[in-house]
Amino acid sequence: MLDSDFHRGRRLRMSPGVRAMVRENHVRPEDLVMPYFVVETDDSAFKKPIGSMPGQFQLSLSELEKQVGAAVKNGLASVLLFGIPKHKDEAGSQAYADEGIVQEAVRRLKDRFPELVVITDVCLCEYTSHGHCGIVHKGGEILNDPSVDLIARAALSHVRAGADMVAPSDMFDGRILAIRDTLDENGFAATPIMSYAVKYASAYYGPFREAAESTPKFGDRKTHQMDPANSREALREAAADLDEGADILMVKPGLPYLDIIRQLRDTFETPIAAYNVSGEYSMIKAAAANGWIDEQRVVMETLTSFKRAGADIILSYHTEDVLRWMNK
Ligand code: PBG
Ligand code: ZN
Repeated sequence: MLDSDFHRGRRLRMSPGVRAMVRENHVRPEDLVMPYFVVETDDSAFKKPIGSMPGQFQLSLSELEKQVGAAVKNGLASVLLFGIPKHKDEAGSQAYADEGIVQEAVRRLKDRFPELVVITDVCLCEYTSHGHCGIVHKGGEILNDPSVDLIARAALSHVRAGADMVAPSDMFDGRILAIRDTLDENGFAATPIMSYAVKYASAYYGPFREAAESTPKFGDRKTHQMDPANSREALREAAADLDEGADILMVKPGLPYLDIIRQLRDTFETPIAAYNVSGEYSMIKAAAANGWIDEQRVVMETLTSFKRAGADIILSYHTEDVLRWMNK
């Protein structure tokens, strides 16, 4: 016979009610941020499926408004906007054009959905003819300081259009400081920065680059994005961004870097965001389409893992689906 001198963990797992009562982590609608790709086009009905990201689309301004409207009804609290301009050039000038596509999208969404938290991705790679995140020197070197100046200009133009928060994704040095100074000098001291503080040079961004038409024409992003083998460096990047004025620290990608989320959580008091990136999304979609996994359960388990690792905020292409499931 067993005596009672051992842990009966099953006691708290015997019914759904008790399991719910002792559940430690929860994914809430207000934790979720849905990314959207908005295209500068004369075709107001433009809605183009992204082949490598089933269920995701490139959208015209009007289609974006429609889609966001439907999601807001389901409880969508926040969006992250990416723009795809008509014209690209060496300096990515449409990234900081006052009438650029993201700036217009911000105006449109804030006008229709004033409560929605509108965050913009700030980078040049969707706007440059070569697909790099900054200015490329003759020999092919991606320049830091001149790129940072333009990225700060882009951030300011987004905030002037009404963005609630900016999220610089470039990983150049000193850009948080430059953005903070620029925003402060222009009367936007109250606008927060969500820094892509720990962003790895990851193959998981592959599908995104099709969606955002931002694949570099030559070279790669390894001189600014981090080496996937490094974790001490992540703490250093996060500390630097906090010093420079970041309000929220993001880790990206999410799932392969849960250890990094946990290390940041244990080291800093700041809110932490996890970016469940395009490749993570597409792998689940592909396996689900083949009937190999239960999509809903795998998605919820994945998002819960970010919360368990210590993330407060989750940026995920699954957001619209999750909100629908939560409403059922
Ligand atoms: C742009 C940017 C990228 C992502 C977000 N902002 C791609 C990249 O760095 O090439 C990736 C998002 C995703 O894969 O879902 N700098
Ligand atoms: Zn970029």
